[in-house]
Amino acid sequence: MNNYLINNKNKYDSAYNESLNNPEKFWNDIASENFSWYDKWSSVVKWDFHKAKINWFSNAKLNITVNCIDRHVKTNPHKIAILFEPNNVNEKPKSFTYSELLVEVSKMANVLKSLGVKKGDRVCIYLPMIPELAFSVLACARIGVIHSVVFAGFSSDALATRINDCNSSLTITSDGSFRGAKTLNLKNIVDDALLKCNDEQKVLVVKRTLEPIKMISKRDVFLEDIISGVDVYCKPEIMDAEDPLFILYTSGSTGKPKGMVHTTAGYMVYTSYTFKNIFQYTDNDVYWCTADIGWITGHSYILYGPLSNGATTLMFEGVPSYPDFSRFWSIVEKYKVTQFYTAPTAIRALARQGVKFVQGIDLSSLKVLGTVGEPINEEAWNWYNINIGKNNCPIVDTWWQTETGGILISSIPNVIPDKPTFATKPFLGVQPMLVDDNGNELKDNNIVGKLCINFPWPSIARTIWGNHERYINTYFSTFKGKYFTGDGAYRDEYGNYRITGRVDDVVIVSGHNLGTAPIEDAINEHPNIAESAIVGFPHEIKGNALYGFITLKDSSIDSNYIKSDINKIISNKIGPIAKLDKIQITTGLPKTRSGKIMRRILRKIASGDFNNLGDISTLLNPEVVNKIINNSL
Ligand code: PRX
Repeated sequence: MNNYLINNKNKYDSAYNESLNNPEKFWNDIASENFSWYDKWSSVVKWDFHKAKINWFSNAKLNITVNCIDRHVKTNPHKIAILFEPNNVNEKPKSFTYSELLVEVSKMANVLKSLGVKKGDRVCIYLPMIPELAFSVLACARIGVIHSVVFAGFSSDALATRINDCNSSLTITSDGSFRGAKTLNLKNIVDDALLKCNDEQKVLVVKRTLEPIKMISKRDVFLEDIISGVDVYCKPEIMDAEDPLFILYTSGSTGKPKGMVHTTAGYMVYTSYTFKNIFQYTDNDVYWCTADIGWITGHSYILYGPLSNGATTLMFEGVPSYPDFSRFWSIVEKYKVTQFYTAPTAIRALARQGVKFVQGIDLSSLKVLGTVGEPINEEAWNWYNINIGKNNCPIVDTWWQTETGGILISSIPNVIPDKPTFATKPFLGVQPMLVDDNGNELKDNNIVGKLCINFPWPSIARTIWGNHERYINTYFSTFKGKYFTGDGAYRDEYGNYRITGRVDDVVIVSGHNLGTAPIEDAINEHPNIAESAIVGFPHEIKGNALYGFITLKDSSIDSNYIKSDINKIISNKIGPIAKLDKIQITTGLPKTRSGKIMRRILRKIASGDFNNLGDISTLLNPEVVNKIINNSL
């Protein structure tokens, strides 16, 4: 049976069973029938979760851009691949057909070659949501260069950390970016970052805002100065299935960011297959995911997933509030968007503005709505369903992670029914399980546990760049032989999963995954700060926000001055997204007798839940708890 299109429940049931009972055959068929290969694999999957060794489609040879571009140029050259909607409503939108995309990607790839990068090298991409971002990503993939996209809202320190960690030698950036009414100078940020990197760096600059910038001779070059001289075709590099395709950094609960490494074949097959089914994409659809390509959602479901299916994918440069809060909906109307995929935080922010920004706009093109990045609360779900979907569009609440590469748990339109606040069922080939704190499987339904995955899926990350030990320790050691997601989940009586949130020291703020430890490390460098503990607390729009409990070395210091310093440090070291919403200066932090900060208590205090603190008598310093409560914000 051809399982590529799952369009009814019976098909899902039989395909799901096959994907569990005979994963080799299942994925062999999906991969061989729907993609273009230079050479097939010698085995479908080899894996050992204890050593975190995972191989899919061993020894197969391919190029992902051939699958995303060239094969569609052959069958449908004039179909639009990428639609580009600029930030500014007065600027002309752009579109690129599949044959135009091949030219753009080829030219960019030839530019990269002319700058000396070659297969296996790392290139860092620090660009706004402009077409050149897509071209750069795909150009790297075309020539076997490993791309590391850094979200263009990250600070120069965060950028430098990422450049240094993967030892990239070229950064692609722009003079600046347009974000709503603001213009940001990105090149200055890159200049600052490179002060902290080795001298071997080169910078390729795309002109966007045309603001004056400083160019350093021999190091910096404008794209427009070299692109006209390069060939319009670039031969694809033949890549091995397990060659790294990209590195994408995600914050961890400790230390520096983790460079998650995704490889070529498994990532392609899984993102493509999930895209097709979870969004039920059909030929004339116009698909729009509002994420930034700087995050995994953009990698998998703006670029690779849609393009490998020959879809039309929309890229939006701006923000939902500019020029006013109707922008998203006006774009849906303008392009007759059929699938719309966004984050709960955006839905909450837009819902708060009221339905007046939706009224009068024709949203009848919409067929499927999606959410990603954090749990969606019922109120936001209902608002989305009623006002955007008009009670007529299935909502896919897609649960996944940077590490998983693609969606693991989601409903499927007209196949697996949606259920407000539930991600619902595992996708084909995905084997979720709930475990207790000792790793024992909780087999019953109607139960809460820690969410693990028991079997590899093709797009699971293969390692952390330069640190395989950390990969094993973070994901495969808590519960031996299982991939631990770091999330808690509830399973209802029908086997639907609802993600309850992180169970580690990662907080999801506006859909962004922020480790609290790196933020604490950054602010603890302040000369007047003795100690800090950052926890998340519920926030109406952002889902969660950050609350910092800070102790000072010298309590006579002006705390207002410290507070403004703290957010400045965070902006510089990590980026404005990690700023604290609340900062409380305290005389001490609650600690265990072994000196460990009891964040559990601080989390309760931050969320105003003072009556359920549990037993605090065993603390080293129980007296600080009341003081903290009395001064809480
Ligand atoms: O806690 C889960 C939450 O986001 C985390 C992954 O974050 P990141 O790697 O940045 O990837 C986000 C985009 C895929 C998860 O561990 N999360 C993601 N999607 C959902 C979610 N929580 C609840 N429901 C979701 N649909």
